[in-house]
Amino acid sequence: MSTEISEPVQLGRVTDERELLELERKYCSWGDTVHYLDPPKFFERCEGNYLYDREGVAYLDLQMWYSAASFGYANPRLGAALKAQVDRLPQLACQYLHAEKVELAALIGRLNESKFGLSGRVHFNVGGAQAIEDSLKIVRNAKGKNLVFAFQGGYHGRTLGASAITSSYRYRRRFGHFSDRAHFVPFPYCFRCPYGKRKEDCGLYCVKEFERNFDTEYNSFWDPKAGESEFAAFYVEAIQGTGGYVIPPQGYFKALKKVLDERNILMVDDEIQMGFYRAGKFWAIENFEVEPDIIVFGKALTNGLNPLSGVWAREELIAPEVFPPGSTHSTFSSNTLGTAVALEAVRMMEEENYEELTNRKGAYFLERIRDLQRLYPKVVGDTDGMGMALRIEICQADGFTPDRELTDRIFAEGMRGDLDARGRRMGLVLDVGGYYKNVFTLAPCFEMSEEEIDLSVELLEQLIRRCAPDRV
Ligand SMILES: Cc1ncc(COP(=O)(O)O)c(C=O)c1O
Repeated sequence: MSTEISEPVQLGRVTDERELLELERKYCSWGDTVHYLDPPKFFERCEGNYLYDREGVAYLDLQMWYSAASFGYANPRLGAALKAQVDRLPQLACQYLHAEKVELAALIGRLNESKFGLSGRVHFNVGGAQAIEDSLKIVRNAKGKNLVFAFQGGYHGRTLGASAITSSYRYRRRFGHFSDRAHFVPFPYCFRCPYGKRKEDCGLYCVKEFERNFDTEYNSFWDPKAGESEFAAFYVEAIQGTGGYVIPPQGYFKALKKVLDERNILMVDDEIQMGFYRAGKFWAIENFEVEPDIIVFGKALTNGLNPLSGVWAREELIAPEVFPPGSTHSTFSSNTLGTAVALEAVRMMEEENYEELTNRKGAYFLERIRDLQRLYPKVVGDTDGMGMALRIEICQADGFTPDRELTDRIFAEGMRGDLDARGRRMGLVLDVGGYYKNVFTLAPCFEMSEEEIDLSVELLEQLIRRCAPDRV
């Protein structure tokens, strides 16, 4: 490992990309995800569906910052809200009130009253994982218990608490013993059913298997004499995000919630990636007709501008008598720039019919990627979508065995920025997810036109033909 001190550089004046990369290699931590791509990529500008690299090449973005920028990069309406707040109330310690915070909490609270018939309150923070941490406190405080269920393939962030309920051991391996690690339950990933069943006639076998845990105290979850579970809550993503945009069958969440309600176990719905119309409804869970006890959100709330996240919890879990002042706090938690943008974003969501828009465009996009699946069955094993959350599962020639290597090749090739977009040079930004890292999780911009959807599919087709010439 080199500890050499390099020549001093004039910081702030480095424009050469090679020099910047050298500085990055030496001075930036590699502990984030930048080095998933080698070499890492610089971008200079963004607008709408597109990122632009330092040479001005456009990259059509099909993942929009993991759905954090759903409403388009440099969205003018949200940018204007941010600029106005910069001029009026750019900062304020979170111990004081400002109007936008209160209005935003009331908007979300009222929306949930109308959607679920439940009253509740909102607690803000800055990142998704931090809001997850807050929700864990709310659960522990309400139930006096630490243990929770979560899904295999689930992702809730990388702080210590969020890592403990995120299934991937890779994220925990280096960081000691997680005594309060969740108990991970198989998600209804029907294309690869963990029980080897078929969705058409399984009768929701997976829910029955989960329910079996409570048959007797000797299954280790339930004391029938006390009528009490050792587990306080079940953390769910209605549609798994990092897990590969896996969509559960209708009826699944209803059946699961019934099991939880009968055992007095809370359902915490993580909407950080799928919330705010990504899956065709304000909250993705609305597609499955259940009322969660707690909702955690972040990302697209500010369209990726000043970060803001939050937890909504049912009144009895978060009322001041049970969750009193000081129960949780962070310096930037309800920062005025974040609340101003978020308030404008939620107003925009109320004014525009995003439900119609995302379902219409998503259905068209899904149809087009199903064409790809039909054309390239030796490459595309599965496609699915709900709203504008879409998945393309890359498989070997048998159409089922995950092909991670090809997925990585397609991803890296898209980032080279040399595809032919009807005569124009272009790149394609994809994101890889899934249990076997063989799924393109598509979270396109809501503003994308049908023509741009067609262009996206043309670019995907070019990538498939380039990277798997022997299977087309
Ligand atoms: C479902 C889900 N929960 C939690 C998180 C963590 O959010 P953040 O990265 O803002 O901490 C993410 C991020 O990708 C997510 O997709």
